[in-house]
Parts: sequence; structure tokens; C-alpha cells
Amino acid sequence: MKPTQLKFILIIASVRSGRIGPTVAQWFVDQVAPYGIDVEIIDLAEPTSPLTTELLEKADGFIVVTPEYNHSYPGDLKILIDAHGTQWKHKPVTIVSYGGMSGGLRAAEHLRAVFAEVYSVGTRNGVVIHAPWDHITDGRLVLDEDAIASTRGAMDELIWWAELLKPERGARDEGAA
Ligand SMILES: Cc1cc2nc3c(=O)[nH]c(=O)nc-3n(C[C@H](O)[C@H](O)[C@H](O)COP(=O)(O)O)c2cc1C
Repeated sequence: MKPTQLKFILIIASVRSGRIGPTVAQWFVDQVAPYGIDVEIIDLAEPTSPLTTELLEKADGFIVVTPEYNHSYPGDLKILIDAHGTQWKHKPVTIVSYGGMSGGLRAAEHLRAVFAEVYSVGTRNGVVIHAPWDHITDGRLVLDEDAIASTRGAMDELIWWAELLKPERGARDEGAA
């Protein structure tokens, strides 16, 4: 299966006014553009609808762009995860986290445990961004080569899992609870 036949959803988890989340998400999308993959965005600042569930259902994998709030991830993201079930099942998730000194790592670690409970596979490789607000030029995030390399590590692994799981999901999960 070619990566271009796979469908990924990128979830923007921050919703507050003045948020940096969409800027971080745009940076990630720009970095992975050479893969030529289909990435659709669910922005949790927009109201969710039956279409949200449909998008999650069709996805072969997820990229979650999350800030750290009080040592964890935003409540709106938990609401989205809890409102769905099979839509996450046997699909890979990679986490792009950001925050202060921690780069959102505590949020990312909490999310791993939650996604494991809904049978998602968390990639070992993710992207950790320290203080993105210090790296904005003309409204865009500009990060060093290490950060860019981490997007490739995360995406390579996400695609590897997505290719592996898609046919198995179709064959084994059909009719299963
Ligand atoms: C309520 C709140 C709690 C925060 N708690 C943390 C924290 O525990 N650790 C951290 O590194 N940054 C923390 N921050 C900083 C955020 O990660 C930072 O403001 C980031 O830009 C938030 O993402 P957003 O702009 O997309 O909303 C907090 C910010 C807010 C608003």
C-alpha cells in the first residue's frame, strides 16, 4: 500500500482565543508535504458534528497537535476521544506536543495512556516543541533541523503502522465488537 492511499487526520487540540495551535499544525503539515499524503484537519475550536465522526471513522491514522495545560492535554481533546470508540481502534497515533520547558511531554505521556485504552497504537517517535512562541517569524513557526528531522521520524513510523494495520483492520475487525 502506498502512503498516498492512506488517510490521516490531524487534530488541533487547543481552542482558546490567541492560541498558537494552528501555527504549530501548519508547520507540521508543511514539513510532511513531501510525503504526498492525504491529511485532513479537525480543529477542536470548530463545533464537532456527525462529519467529525465520519472523518475519524475513515482515518488510517492520527496526528494530534496538543499543548500542555497544567501538566496534561486540553479537556476538549479528552471529550473528543471519549465521544468515540471504534473510530480510534487499531489505528496509529503520533503526538506533536508543545509547551514551555517540557515541550508538552507530560501532555503527550498522558495521551499515550488514554489512546492505549481505545486500542490505538502510539508511535514511539513524536515531535516535542519547546516554547514555539519564541520561534515565530512573519506568523509562521521556524524551527531547526533537529525539529524537522523529528517530524520525519514520527511520520515514517506513523505510515509504517498505518500500512500494517489497515488491511488487518479490515480483515479482522469486521463484525467484531
Ligand atoms: C491554562 C494553561 C496552563 C498551562 N500549563 C502549562 C504547563 O503545565 N506546562 C507547560 O509547559 N506550559 C503550560 N502552559 C503554556 C502553554 O503550553 C502555552 O501557552 C501554549 O501556547 C498553549 O497552547 P495554545 O496557545 O495552542 O493554547 C499553560 C497555558 C495555559 C493557558
